[in-house]
Amino acid sequence: MFTPTFPIEDLPSGNKKCTTINGIELMIVNVNGNVYATQKSCSHAQTDLSEGNLEGCIIECPLHGAMFDVTDGRVLSLPAITPLKTYPAKIENGVIMVDVPEPESATEPTNA
Ligand code: FES
Repeated sequence: MFTPTFPIEDLPSGNKKCTTINGIELMIVNVNGNVYATQKSCSHAQTDLSEGNLEGCIIECPLHGAMFDVTDGRVLSLPAITPLKTYPAKIENGVIMVDVPEPESATEPTNA
């Protein structure tokens, strides 16, 4: 289910912004008017990717320099080898919406 985050006017093209939905920390990026959502932390050593340099659709990790394509999460350079998780994102009525799965229940209901 898509969840509203913040107005697109708060995220001009070429910028990134973070939010948390369903306990998942996200980085939302505006690339030429299209919005993309990925996990906030680098897949290499969990550094905050939003502190990194964004050029077009490529984000560079500020710690060890791995690069990722934010449009699909794929790794473009080492030392990271695991792609970023990505989440469907769209703009609706001027608001950025992101589809993040609901957390799974930790315990199954019992019939006891
Ligand atoms: S923590 Fe991002 S490349 Fe190492």
